[in-house]
Amino acid sequence: MALALRMSLFVFHTDLYDVHLFGRGTAVSSLLDPKFFDELKQKNDIVEVIGGYASLDRKGNTHWACCPFHHERTPSFAVNQAEQFYHCFGCGVSGDVIKFIREIENTDFMGAVRILAARAKMEVPENNFDSEQAVAMRKKRDAMAAIMLDCAKFYLSNLYSGDPRAQAHLQYISNRKLSPTTVKKFGLGASLDFYSLPEYLAGKGYNRQDLLDSGALGEDKRGKLVDAQSGRLIFPIINAMDEVVAFGGRLLEKTDFAKYKNTKETLLFNKSKTLYNVNLLKKLKRQQAIPNVIFVEGYMDTISLYQAGFENVVASMGTALTKEQARLVKRYSPNVMISYDGDFAGQKNTLRGLEILKEEGINVRVVPLPEGLDPDDVVKQGKDVYQGCLDAAMPLIDYKIHYLERKYDISRVEEKRSFVAEALAVVKTAESESVREDLLKKIRDKTGITYHALERDLQNTKVENPQTENDRQKEQIAETASGADKRVKAFRFILAAKLFSAPYAKDCNLKELPLTDETHIVIADYIVGCETEGVRIRPSALFEVLSEDCPELNAILDLNYGDKLSGPIAERFFADSVRTLQRERLETEITNLNRQYTAETDDSKRKEIARTIAENMRKVSALKKSK
Ligand code: UTP
Ligand code: MN
Repeated sequence: MALALRMSLFVFHTDLYDVHLFGRGTAVSSLLDPKFFDELKQKNDIVEVIGGYASLDRKGNTHWACCPFHHERTPSFAVNQAEQFYHCFGCGVSGDVIKFIREIENTDFMGAVRILAARAKMEVPENNFDSEQAVAMRKKRDAMAAIMLDCAKFYLSNLYSGDPRAQAHLQYISNRKLSPTTVKKFGLGASLDFYSLPEYLAGKGYNRQDLLDSGALGEDKRGKLVDAQSGRLIFPIINAMDEVVAFGGRLLEKTDFAKYKNTKETLLFNKSKTLYNVNLLKKLKRQQAIPNVIFVEGYMDTISLYQAGFENVVASMGTALTKEQARLVKRYSPNVMISYDGDFAGQKNTLRGLEILKEEGINVRVVPLPEGLDPDDVVKQGKDVYQGCLDAAMPLIDYKIHYLERKYDISRVEEKRSFVAEALAVVKTAESESVREDLLKKIRDKTGITYHALERDLQNTKVENPQTENDRQKEQIAETASGADKRVKAFRFILAAKLFSAPYAKDCNLKELPLTDETHIVIADYIVGCETEGVRIRPSALFEVLSEDCPELNAILDLNYGDKLSGPIAERFFADSVRTLQRERLETEITNLNRQYTAETDDSKRKEIARTIAENMRKVSALKKSK
């Protein structure tokens, strides 16, 4: 089966890479059609293009700059003119000239192509390289975006229509002290009932399926279209390209229903990749450098802070932070202030979110808020009150201790002991001796217990934080799984050697390797596709089929830097890797055949199986010998 999958180039993966990999067949051929791209890239030399955004310094055949995608003082952003692509050794981003423009201009693939075509004074032949599916997909997306924008306008017009039903919405807005300017800035609106939105949209000639797929409308029991947000106060969610992608709708009265309802996930809206208010953050960035971004949980927190002058704010919309959100925010600032509701330190999910920010190289500080209040409540007490909280922001580990101090009443003996025990468990996770000492001193001052006693207790403290425990376990598994790790490294090396046309890799047939990783399979398919059709392998073509920032792809592309792929050691490593993996595949096959042999009752078939087993074993021993 695995082999059959690999042979059916690109077909199998479409469901896995639904959005990124548009093509089935047609896209592949257009993707491989080098004419337009070759000319586009020839006329947009990567060094010249990137030189327009960052100041490049030539050393040998590599140009260096401080990475435009993350904050740094010493250059780790490398541009390779010969291979026409860039890679940052600091934050791991890489790509070709098209990817660069996508990232730096915050645009999509076509947007980048258009920018580069304009730069080179070339015509963009729309249909030359867009498969039918890609065109259809883009049309669908555009139709949905048009619908969402229309809805947003409709909701906004409801709010000031004088319709008596909008009174409740206006009253709510005024209770929450939002000014008309703020309402306009965030495009707040009102849904008044189930049917007026579908009626309004009906006159606009939209396709029914697009209306449903946009998530703005649903169907009632009789199949009639209804407003998915019926009756709610509307918060449009707008992406960095200024497109309305979804709505958050708040119920005006307390009921048993969820307070907010968000548009379902659609082609336009993926909640875990979206930050509320990123559109205004982007505009802010154009005017000034953003020293830090304040992360809040909710729509109202965002709007209140913004209104009070804290414009550098975004909301994660309730969910735990994701890697995508971390990467998104990193484009705007390397520093994040977490300003969540006071009790979040007790929630494991949120803490995990903060770890994710750290893993992305973002500096995280936590803003302590008074018990039970959210940023919206605090800023309502005064701009200075909230500014005071911002000024008191502290590293996560300090915040955890701070949280425990508030959780326990240490004038009671038992609570004091619980405090000390939990606080020591936190101290145990400190990254350095100096942090550890600093925290121990704080606990000493708070409790009056001697430093010496705390230090002794610390030695006997087990890390109780389940998250950390979990991480340890993962690390241990990773260590014992070094065999698996070696295997991944072997695959990466083979694929890199193939992608960059290392001469020693020429005869290796990727179909004979037991590929299991989805990304590896996509890359192998691409290579085999090129080989079959006799076209040049373009590593950068993979940016068009794999998701942005695919870490596995980046790990493979990393191998092209330095001399990792050339020389006798590389050649030997390649041959060894291929042999090991071929052996693995043969051994798996032998195991399967043995099972078949045992189950088989027909004698002649048994003989046939035995013959295949013997042949495979011969191949295995030949592979062993050739080592
Ligand atoms: P909160 O419950 O803290 O709401 O949820 P809030 O923003 O302070 O709301 P107000 O002040 O009562 O109006 C934080 C965020 O979590 C998401 C929303 O994005 C909300 O702003 N959320 C919350 C939902 O998506 N659904 C819910 O039912 C609740
Ligand atoms: Mn609130």
